[in-house]
Amino acid sequence: MSLYNDHFKIIEQRLSNALNATQYDGVVIHSGSPQKIYLDDQSYPYKVNPHFAYWVPMTDCPDSFVAFKPGKKPLLIVLQADDFWHTQPQLSQGPWLELFETTSVPNLAQAEQLLADYKQCAWLGDTPHMPIQWGFETTNPDDLLAYLHYDRAEKTAWEIELLTTANEIAAKSHLAARDAFLAGASEIDIHNQYLLAMGGPESSLPYSSIVALNNHGAVLHYDKYETTAPEQSIAFLIDAGARHHGYVADITRTWSAPGHSEFQQFIDRIDSEQLALIDSLAVGQAYADYHYDMHIRLANVLEDFKLINCSADEAVANGVTKAFFPHGLGHLIGLQTHDVAGHQIDHHGTKADTSDGHPFLRLRRDITEGMVFTIEPGCYVIDQLLAQHGEANVINQERVEWLRPYGGVRIEDTVVMKDNKPVNLTRPGFAKLA
Ligand code: GLY
Ligand code: MN
Ligand code: MN
Repeated sequence: MSLYNDHFKIIEQRLSNALNATQYDGVVIHSGSPQKIYLDDQSYPYKVNPHFAYWVPMTDCPDSFVAFKPGKKPLLIVLQADDFWHTQPQLSQGPWLELFETTSVPNLAQAEQLLADYKQCAWLGDTPHMPIQWGFETTNPDDLLAYLHYDRAEKTAWEIELLTTANEIAAKSHLAARDAFLAGASEIDIHNQYLLAMGGPESSLPYSSIVALNNHGAVLHYDKYETTAPEQSIAFLIDAGARHHGYVADITRTWSAPGHSEFQQFIDRIDSEQLALIDSLAVGQAYADYHYDMHIRLANVLEDFKLINCSADEAVANGVTKAFFPHGLGHLIGLQTHDVAGHQIDHHGTKADTSDGHPFLRLRRDITEGMVFTIEPGCYVIDQLLAQHGEANVINQERVEWLRPYGGVRIEDTVVMKDNKPVNLTRPGFAKLA
């Protein structure tokens, strides 16, 4: 039995349980349609509906369908349009084909006919006019989606394999980007080296890469690519991923130029705190507790590097660590970079309490076996946030001026919980190439 077959059985059971709990007859999952740009005849890059890719690892077959009723072999309808302007998807060989009643159609009218017996099913997809025109009564029902989204946090062995490969591709590309940084390349040239190593177009990235030289690393979502290199590149923060059959890698690394040994020590320290935190992860604990723990770890780093005038304990208590590390420790990851249901604490869609003063924390569930998430601590010079503590004199401005030209540091890996142990899916990809 292939890993895919096991995956199929698990998600078939999950969907059957969800339908049983919510009382829908079945589902029709639409892979999505390319979306036209306003007043234009071009489309935005097509992104597959993750519910579709969960079943069939084909990410480039718009207007295709998976139709499922419990106890029946699911139907896979792939549109191979009668259209000479575009390439058409091929039914890529794989174990999925024999598990579906698979058929290709030349137009949507034929797909509609094949789905005639499924009109009592819930439609899952983002093209609202199509289910209405085709006579479906229920589109994206909240109760069914909540059930399905909750389960997606725990990955099957097949999904872990795809995530591992995505991380290997991204690791290789990160090292190509690092080499370009060390050679003095501009941000756009580094970005292009990354894509070249990845072997895919920009539109296949899971998110806009952050390619930040020097103080640009302090802009959390820096998405410009400067076309000229700075006079001196002393620091490089890159947050960039890759996809494999839809599954996402999301990796951040920070590199120092030779001769900046104190900044290198600062990177090494954040890196070792990140690794120690990962080592401490356990099933049954609240993810948020690790986020709070990272604030304590960071406070000690700030104290040791003399970035604060107060004690580590005070830095946590008065919120100074939040000025240096304003984002969350991490998030669920899978078919989406920020995978669904990070704030959902049960199958019914109950939302977690978010009133703890950490508004950007995206994962507030207890850690469970098979759960996959990122761990991505950071520390930056963000004047807007540091200024909020200016009057209290708790921040050592002189040392902030030391860190400022480097921008900041973030280290981000993906972890899966396996046999109640954290398994790092990102580091082996780098280690293989060392
Ligand atoms: N690259 C997006 C994130 O780290 O969450
Ligand atoms: Mn992330
Ligand atoms: Mn990231």
